[in-house]
Amino acid sequence: MYGDWSDAPRSLATLGYEPPIPGLIGSSQAMMEVYNLTRRVAGSNASVLLLGETGVGKEMIASAVHRLSQRAAGPFVKVNCGALSESLLESELFGHMRGAFTGAVSNRTGRFEAAHGGSIFLDEINSTSLHLQVKLLRVLQEREFERVGDTQTIRVDTRVVAASNRDLMDEVEAERFREDLYWRLNVVPIRIPPLRERREDIPELVAHFLNVYSETNERHVVHIQREAMEALQDHDWPGNVRELQNYVERAVVLAESDELTVDLLPPEIRSGTKRPPLGMSAQAFDLDTLTQEVVQQGLNEADPDAEDLHSRVVNRVEKELIAQVMQACSGVQTKAATRLGINRNTLHKKLKEYDLDS
Ligand SMILES: Nc1ncnc2c1ncn2[C@@H]1O[C@H](COP(=O)(O)OP(=O)(O)O)[C@@H](O)[C@H]1O
Ligand SMILES: [Mg+2]
Repeated sequence: MYGDWSDAPRSLATLGYEPPIPGLIGSSQAMMEVYNLTRRVAGSNASVLLLGETGVGKEMIASAVHRLSQRAAGPFVKVNCGALSESLLESELFGHMRGAFTGAVSNRTGRFEAAHGGSIFLDEINSTSLHLQVKLLRVLQEREFERVGDTQTIRVDTRVVAASNRDLMDEVEAERFREDLYWRLNVVPIRIPPLRERREDIPELVAHFLNVYSETNERHVVHIQREAMEALQDHDWPGNVRELQNYVERAVVLAESDELTVDLLPPEIRSGTKRPPLGMSAQAFDLDTLTQEVVQQGLNEADPDAEDLHSRVVNRVEKELIAQVMQACSGVQTKAATRLGINRNTLHKKLKEYDLDS
């Protein structure tokens, strides 16, 4: 589709021009940087960590890393670590011996072995258990493991690409993710920005999906009404490219002419009401209400003759504030400290002081 760029004049490369990656749509500055990093890292054997919300294109980048590498002729094996229970995932990844557990009626080769000579994509790596993380660390470090229920060590040559839709450092802090594995994976992190931070990609993506779905549905929707494009560009896309793709498909299916019109879009997009990004709504504070409520409570409870009203009410407000921010940040202290604008050690002390550290 984009032709072969391997023979492109050197001058283009020296000008810093990055040819797009076949199949990936969007030429915003942010995505150009993603493509650039993807190309550069693909040639190495380093582990790659893809970070970004759901639907931003992590899996597409993972497969591009493989296709652009010297391993392209080898297998590309995908495993969604979030989709299986711990024991199933362990035997899926590493294989097992007959009789290793109830139901293990025969020997089974794991996905790591299947990925020998190629790449393995570990999606939602953040949902692996700490026990499995130890085994993963060993594969990353020593390139070896044993099948479940076996003592024989197997060596593999595979490049690991992992993805997480959560901030892994937060997970490390919450003690759900091993720090040593984090650093092993984090050799080359690639952060793929959410669609709302690169709205300039929306028209290209819409045109692309219109083409794709016109073809699969034998339609010919080639025009986009201006009002429809404006609505699409204003939406916040919590489900990112996947959400956009679904809505364009739906519009093509419903279209009765060759134009994508605004009435073909779901109401939440049409009305232009912006939804907060997923997981952010709990963090919105109404400072005035919060303060008034807590001050009122502090005043009500305080002994009318007490002469320490200031410190009592201020402490009370502070405690409530910290408790709420900690909750909004899922207990992750660095995040809460940043949000509060206070030092992490200070936060730590205050959590102790207010008995909020449990
Ligand atoms: N830059 C892009 N160009 C074209 N299609 C994309 C792009 N990014 C994402 N998609 C499409 O959006 C959907 C979600 O992408 P995926 O790679 O599965 O995201 P993630 O793994 O981050 O959830 C897929 O159907 C994919 O084809
Ligand atoms: Mg995915």
